[in-house]
Amino acid sequence: MSIIEQAARRLEELRRAGIEVPSIDVAHAPEQASAIATVAPVARAPSGSKSKATEIDLERLGAMGYLTPDRARAKLAEEFRIVKRPLLKNMRGGGDTPVERANLIMVTSSLPGEGKTFVSVNLAISMAMELDKHVLLVDADVARPSVMSRLGLEPSKGLLDILTDPSLELADALLRTNIDKLTLLPAGAPNRRATEVLASDGMNSLLDDMATRYSDRIVVFDAPPLLPSTESRVLATHMGQVILVVEAEKTPQKLVAQSLAALEACPVVMTMLNKSTASEVGSYYGYYGPLPD
Ligand SMILES: Nc1ncnc2c1ncn2[C@@H]1O[C@H](COP(=O)(O)OP(=O)(O)O)[C@@H](O)[C@H]1O
Ligand SMILES: [Mg+2]
Repeated sequence: MSIIEQAARRLEELRRAGIEVPSIDVAHAPEQASAIATVAPVARAPSGSKSKATEIDLERLGAMGYLTPDRARAKLAEEFRIVKRPLLKNMRGGGDTPVERANLIMVTSSLPGEGKTFVSVNLAISMAMELDKHVLLVDADVARPSVMSRLGLEPSKGLLDILTDPSLELADALLRTNIDKLTLLPAGAPNRRATEVLASDGMNSLLDDMATRYSDRIVVFDAPPLLPSTESRVLATHMGQVILVVEAEKTPQKLVAQSLAALEACPVVMTMLNKSTASEVGSYYGYYGPLPD
């Protein structure tokens, strides 16, 4: 099947799924069945922190082919080491050109199903495993959240709740995990205008906060795809670094070019070829930015 035929087929699938598409396609990969674990509230930490704790079933995650701290999958771990190296270098300010908000890292793609959640989860775990710095993984694909189900966790209060309920603050929704230094911010309660919230003033001030108050913490955003929604493109302009996931042999070149054009204003954009037959992930890792590693 040619790339054009594939694109047309995916567009048709998307439309059948009731998703509005501007000029091109989208089809969402089916969610994996997940064993649901409970999010257990814990007593407040002595510091006064309101964050709760939750337990990710690491054996299940490993069996699904994801990175886990205890059973390091050599190949995948190595691939994500390559992926994160330039991101971390930019955070450290290790190059000639400082990257503003380098701690805010958005993972996106042209279309759904290309592997944003796969990459976000693995990248966040990989960074939490090897670094002194804390990692916050944000499920920002608010219209189709999947971080929690992918990790085998129940949905919980999150980003949308913080942005729509003035009585809530970030700390109210944070979930500490049994992966050392990895905290989650779920997408929160579904909302018909979910994606719009991502381009709101409230989101902008939350991002400002994350960039300044939490500047020592890496924030990985599992973002919506770029082409079906303008909000995702707006969100990208507030990020220090963007990873554009491209599904190997599937995403038409034309769409990749459109996505790169949409990301033109972002200081650092890296492309990552995912689901390649040559390698599971990161077989080609392109870099567009001021600090090549
Ligand atoms: N490199 C990969 N190797 C194996 N499975 C992958 C890979 N990338 C994605 N997947 C799987 O493909 C499906 C779609 O990926 P997902 O991360 O949900 O895409 P998106 O978040 O972009 O919609 C998921 O079941 C995911 O686990
Ligand atoms: Mg996803």
